[in-house]
Amino acid sequence: MFWYHDMTKHSYSSIRTNPNRLSWENQPSTYKNYPSSYQKTKLDLEQKEHHFLYYIAGLTAKKSYPGGEYYLRVNPSAGALYPNELYFQVRGIEGMKDGIYHYEVSSSSIALLCTITEDKGIEPYLGYKTAMKGYLFLVSAVYYRSSWKYKDRAFRYCLLDAGHLLGSIEASALLRPHAVQVIYTIERQKLNRMFGFEKREWFLSGASVAVPMQGKEVSAIAFELPYVEGSQTFEANPVIEKAYEETSILTECKKATKAPKFTYNTQKFQETIFSRRSQRGFQEGAMTKGQFNYIMEAMHQPVLSDCDEEVHIYAVVNRVLDMPLGLYTKGKYIKYGDFSKQAGYLSLEQYALASSGAITLFFTSDAKNYQAVYQKAGIIGHRLYMASLYLELGCSGIGAYYDDEVNDFVENNEMVLYALAVGK
Ligand SMILES: Cc1cc2nc3c(=O)[nH]c(=O)nc-3n(C[C@H](O)[C@H](O)[C@H](O)COP(=O)(O)O)c2cc1C
Repeated sequence: MFWYHDMTKHSYSSIRTNPNRLSWENQPSTYKNYPSSYQKTKLDLEQKEHHFLYYIAGLTAKKSYPGGEYYLRVNPSAGALYPNELYFQVRGIEGMKDGIYHYEVSSSSIALLCTITEDKGIEPYLGYKTAMKGYLFLVSAVYYRSSWKYKDRAFRYCLLDAGHLLGSIEASALLRPHAVQVIYTIERQKLNRMFGFEKREWFLSGASVAVPMQGKEVSAIAFELPYVEGSQTFEANPVIEKAYEETSILTECKKATKAPKFTYNTQKFQETIFSRRSQRGFQEGAMTKGQFNYIMEAMHQPVLSDCDEEVHIYAVVNRVLDMPLGLYTKGKYIKYGDFSKQAGYLSLEQYALASSGAITLFFTSDAKNYQAVYQKAGIIGHRLYMASLYLELGCSGIGAYYDDEVNDFVENNEMVLYALAVGK
């Protein structure tokens, strides 16, 4: 097992012997804003292309609490800390200047960082030799936003949240509709340097919503952007830095070439994207077997990528009409029984979610390419959110669980990547 994953496991005793104290005065900002000298365009939802971008990462709700207020987004994030930033290249899109942009969440605008030419672009850094018409996305993490709270374990959340953002790209692209190709073998070091990230932010993945322009070769564009603050406060975390570096070189990648298929009504799906939220607790309501099957099917659809890794999905059936209680995987039961209490306990005693829901899911894998498999778990988690909310069920990600005890429960010794609960 990858040393980082092993050393960031939670256990019943680790939670009690290492209580997590937060330094509120160091709380990082969740927004990155380029200076006003960059040309910024406010997104206009009436414009098709702006709509596409807004439905990936836009602000969708405002929450107030006694000390202030904060905004929630299209994409979910562990602890609403939003460690990821979104950049993209535009080529050949009507109404938009060809160039490289940053999605500025706080002002719902896009900032033009650099223009591109017909024969130069970021394509080669993502493995393309020809010009790509459309969007090439890059997902980064400003890791301190998450490590401020989650300490060493935060690299896991940066990857899961990045996966959710990739899942959001997939969901928004389904409205067009257009297939999304996820790219993990990007030239991280070069791109990090060109974007001026200075080790506080780094790229994790790319995604293409574009088509090749036959016969138009491109070479790699070179630029040097200045460092721009992404968290206000910062404290280096050597464990996370080492984990990032060691997992940045991917090996023996297998390409996934089969496109996923989803069944949905576009209008309803669009409303689902915009109104998506995490449910804070369930009322012990049951789902139907049809709903269970729809959700399972959405999660098991292939993810087009250049480095596909297998994620194993285990479902604890707590309340599904016409299905026995038990632990279910790959279309059959491993064991029968009421494990709802245990599912809650394993999820760091979040009983209101994992015991009271209709199903609790655990994702595991023994894959070698950690960045790729962890982001894939986030993508599948996002599909689960979308499918559940589409069916008017609630869903929540659960990033905290007792790793080894989950292994004992699901009867394997793989890395436990993620847990989620769905219910009413
Ligand atoms: C990777 C990940 C892990 C999460 N873990 C938990 C959790 O353990 N418990 C919980 O109540 N919510 C959890 N959430 C839900 C977040 O708190 C929620 O996404 C965030 O507050 C934003 O709210 P929203 O999803 O309603 O937009 C998690 C979300 C993600 C994406």
